[in-house]
Amino acid sequence: MNEGKIVRVNGPLVVAEGMQNALMYEVVEVGEYRLIGEITRIEKDRAYIQVYEDTSGIKPGEMVYRTGSPLSIELGPGLLGRIFDGLERPLDGILELSKSPFIKRGVKVNSLDRHKKWYYKPIVKKGDTIEDNDILGTVQETELIEHKILVPPSVKGKIIDTVEEGNYTVDEPIATIDMNGDRKELYLMQKWPVRIPRPYSEKLEPTEPLLTGVRVTDTIFPMAKGGTAAIPGPFGSGKTVTLQSLSKWSEAKIVIYIGCGERGNEMTDTLTSFPKLKDPWTGKPLLERTILIANTSNMPVAAREASIYVGITMAEYFRDQGYDTLLVADSTSRWAEALRDLGGRMEEMPAEEGYPSYLASRLAEYYERAGRVRTLGKPPRYGSVTVASAVSPPGGDFTEPVTSTTLRFVRVFWPLDSSLAQARHYPAINWLQGYSAYVELVADWWSKNADPKWKEYREYMVKTLQREDELRQIVRLVGPESLAEKDKLVLDVARLIKEAFLKQNAYDDIDAFSTPQKQVRIMKLISLYGQKSQELVEKGISVKRMNEKITIVTDIIRSKATIKNDELEKYDELEKILLKQFEELSKEV
Ligand SMILES: Nc1ncnc2c1ncn2[C@@H]1O[C@H](COP(=O)(O)OP(=O)(O)OP(=O)(O)O)[C@@H](O)[C@H]1O
Ligand SMILES: [Mg+2]
Repeated sequence: MNEGKIVRVNGPLVVAEGMQNALMYEVVEVGEYRLIGEITRIEKDRAYIQVYEDTSGIKPGEMVYRTGSPLSIELGPGLLGRIFDGLERPLDGILELSKSPFIKRGVKVNSLDRHKKWYYKPIVKKGDTIEDNDILGTVQETELIEHKILVPPSVKGKIIDTVEEGNYTVDEPIATIDMNGDRKELYLMQKWPVRIPRPYSEKLEPTEPLLTGVRVTDTIFPMAKGGTAAIPGPFGSGKTVTLQSLSKWSEAKIVIYIGCGERGNEMTDTLTSFPKLKDPWTGKPLLERTILIANTSNMPVAAREASIYVGITMAEYFRDQGYDTLLVADSTSRWAEALRDLGGRMEEMPAEEGYPSYLASRLAEYYERAGRVRTLGKPPRYGSVTVASAVSPPGGDFTEPVTSTTLRFVRVFWPLDSSLAQARHYPAINWLQGYSAYVELVADWWSKNADPKWKEYREYMVKTLQREDELRQIVRLVGPESLAEKDKLVLDVARLIKEAFLKQNAYDDIDAFSTPQKQVRIMKLISLYGQKSQELVEKGISVKRMNEKITIVTDIIRSKATIKNDELEKYDELEKILLKQFEELSKEV
């Protein structure tokens, strides 16, 4: 393969000549240190290379070596519970995040451990015909996850040899096939180029909710397995905490957390909090289902651009095994800034606010990789990739290019509001601006599994909050005295909705996670309160009087943090008292 010569170095961008026949997106090794880079533009024999490691000291005249391969990652047992950088190089611990440089330049490290043996149980036998994505066998990777060993895409053939059940490393052959007359060995591990979506059989409508345990993101703006969400929010409004809650509590089988261009200390927080946590669905350590990818603000900018693709490729790989996976990225604004930085150095014509003109197509391609699918391969199975990304618009301006472009491609919108955050209303998701395209799709699930009235209760809450907003505008103009009692009641019920349901403390042991069953119990009480109080207001009881008499409201508000998910019978008691207090009050009519 021909070699090229460096003619220019501009930060992470290196230009080399003599690169005829090089391929777009081919990985190259740059200079004496053999830094990893990727070709992002070719003009005649000139290649523009984005380099994933610090280029200081690299000079024109040094050589560039082609590899002939696109940027690929290793997929196999040994990913779970690990921390990788944006190129899937293992970071051995949290300590490395606070040091710089992280991995010595030019050092080639294997992503998956070559020494560790995994107990592999084959499913296929000699003589079987196998093809793309069939399950060859399994490895119990962690207590939580059985890793399905897959036939790599576009591999087909007849098994001529397979190993017995036993311990194998990721690079020992576990099966040999005859593929069009050639012998081909298969391993516990496979490779996949990160910029190419992994194939599947069919994309399906997302109809199952991806439960998050967070009431506003489950009920008001629900997420579906295979869906897409954006969490835009100004500085300090709770983006990271929201993504952390999702990765900790959501019902996904596999979680991939990408810390993309955020501050190192924020990522360290995430990393130190994870190992201590247990999965609320299984009680097992959360890390057993989690992969962390860290490319913090002090790490090379080009690797930040790649980290998103590395993460989503891992998510697709677990999807192909038949799992529901969740990818969270904090934040795609920093990723877009990496694109802008690299585009600028390539002297591309900038579009809006300096971002490259392909920002929209890159974002579209990224979100397009989410979805619920019927996978390729035998036995038949379904899997999903759900994507939730934080967006950090400068100054909280949602009309800026990254936020506004993202909004075109996501189907759930959880906008964080700085005035709510300042008022310590967390999660600070603005209930008037938020949106979910999945409400209708998941309503059936809620009706069957939680309460047939879920949708009705939800609509009641949403309408009350909208009406409250209209009334607040009137109050602003003419003062609160002008409101009729029934309107005052709307404000009163809206307050209850916010206090008892929407506000949720991510740091409270009980409140942090609400099961769907608990959510509907709170919703039922709110709706009961709304209905009963309206009846009495119509009969002439004032809202003030009601607030004096219906004292159980305080307990209803507190119940989110006092009643555990497995003590829901306590809600019967609250309901009984509520009805009794209304009964008493109705005597005053
Ligand atoms: N659900 C929540 N429950 C309790 N506190 C919260 C919640 N969400 C956010 N907070 C508080 O808000 C603070 C800031 O949140 P966070 O770090 O997530 O903001 P951010 O939007 O990621 O900020 P930045 O723009 O700096 O990345 C947290 O440290 C926490 O104190
Ligand atoms: Mg943050």
